[in-house]
Amino acid sequence: MRIKITDIATYLPEKVVTNDDLSATLDTSHEWIYTRTGIESRHISARDELTSTLAIEATKKLIRQSNVDPMTIDAIIVSTTTGDTRFPSCACKVQGAIEAYKAFAFDVNAACAGFIYALAVADSMMKSMKLRRVLLISAETITKFVDWTDRSTCVLFGDGAGAMLLEGAEDSQTGIIATKLYSNGEDEKFNSILAHNGEQNGNRGYITMAGRTVFKYAIDYMAMSMKEILDENNMTISDIDWIIPHQANRRILESMCKMRDFPIEKVIITTQEHANTSSASIPLALRDALDKGKVNQGDTLLFTALGAGLTWGSAIVRI
Ligand code: UT7
Repeated sequence: MRIKITDIATYLPEKVVTNDDLSATLDTSHEWIYTRTGIESRHISARDELTSTLAIEATKKLIRQSNVDPMTIDAIIVSTTTGDTRFPSCACKVQGAIEAYKAFAFDVNAACAGFIYALAVADSMMKSMKLRRVLLISAETITKFVDWTDRSTCVLFGDGAGAMLLEGAEDSQTGIIATKLYSNGEDEKFNSILAHNGEQNGNRGYITMAGRTVFKYAIDYMAMSMKEILDENNMTISDIDWIIPHQANRRILESMCKMRDFPIEKVIITTQEHANTSSASIPLALRDALDKGKVNQGDTLLFTALGAGLTWGSAIVRI
């Protein structure tokens, strides 16, 4: 039996910051940010809005709209790289907030590729442990971990959360068809080009990135993983209705498609409104595409992402 995404809800912080807002305090411009990245604005969490706050908001919305009894949830998996604290996990906070006391709960950290990793973990655990109903939440407050004086990184990020309900598919056509994960932590070459510089003297620390190098790997590795997952499943891009990639940079998505001769028209792009929300970006883009009537039930989706580690991967899902 395949595992299916049966519902999805999202939460975005209320505060929207435009490129022009940023250029009021930073040596940057809307022109630079938009032409280099495709970003126009981003949602930024308030001081007291933590990653668990966003995750709980998205999950409560999901529970309301799907009318699910929290006590029927078997597991809660949160992908995040920006948890409130080292422990307890964000997933445990969600479990307590929705009183899903029969669920076990844990976090997955694979940076911006976290959603693909958590989806693969949920898929295999649901099959091997015979779980009936799992919550998969991707939640990030990555803007709390940027250096707001570093224009080369701080303009790129936004906050948000997406919560998905995963259940056994009632038919054999829909559900998670395949997942494929990769990592390379080779020092210098990969490990240090995109990193968090660690907590220092009680400060949270911030993101450091060799932008051009990451840009190149993002194109090569996402394109490679999409080709490999399609080949391994005897599929081609014509079997895919929509590609929903991690939303780091519109130019990365255009180059990735060009490399494989994939039509850019098949790519869901929300970079302009969400910016890079790390592991939350694919669930946010999927909900947006469903709301806009682009993605419909029965469509076959190809997810792909790359993040720090490096970690990357792809998944094919028929919804
Ligand atoms: O989610 C995880 C994965 N992360 C990514 O995929 C991000 C990948 N990297 C990128 O998206 C791009 O490399 C960036 C958007 C970060 C940068 O674009 P770029 O075309 O690679 O620019 P660059 O870093 O080579 O910088 C070009 C110039 C520099 O000035 P000089 O040295 O040529 O005089 C920068 O100082 O642009 C300058 N610059 C800016 N100027 C205005 C850098 N940031 C800004 C800024 N506003 N915000």
